[in-house]
Amino acid sequence: MRAALPVFALAAIGCAVLSGCAKEDPATATIDAPASSTRTAAVEPSIDPATGFKMTGDWQLVRGHCTGCHSSKLITQQRGTPQQWLTMIRWMQAKQNLWQFDPDTESRIIAYLAENYPPDDAQRRAALPAELMPPNPYATASN
Ligand code: HEC
Repeated sequence: MRAALPVFALAAIGCAVLSGCAKEDPATATIDAPASSTRTAAVEPSIDPATGFKMTGDWQLVRGHCTGCHSSKLITQQRGTPQQWLTMIRWMQAKQNLWQFDPDTESRIIAYLAENYPPDDAQRRAALPAELMPPNPYATASN
């Protein structure tokens, strides 16, 4: 989808110049395309047909560690900052028998997840502010 943004942006510019684009596709009408969005234009990674993962960076490491217990869809539909991904991993380690990672593996997994599945508008809801959160029984030194 991101790869398509610059096309929309160009179309919008064309409309502005020619002022003759009466039938604007509603799907493109609400896209907010700041100039910086062209930054992501270059290469959008291919999608692994088996898992749906973006085939870039340490994706095979993530496939190896993260798809044994549940569908990869649970991951690709999720979004998060590095801290949010770490919190999900800590929760699975505390409650779902997810194994411990050595620090290097863990930081590579989190980097892949946070870079490729960062927070965006598709997130289910905004995170609760800290003061509305219940106490975290799984708090660790790192969070
Ligand atoms: C040992 C088993 C196991 C492994 C390995 C595992 N998970 Fe999970 N994970 C679970 C279980 C169990 C759930 C809860 C599933 C459910 O709610 O149906 C879950 C849920 C999730 C969710 C959904 C959380 C939510 O809030 O809805 C995400 C995202 C997730 N896992 C990501 C990962 C990632 C990333 C990895 C690799 C670092 C991973 N999982 C590896 C057991 C595992």
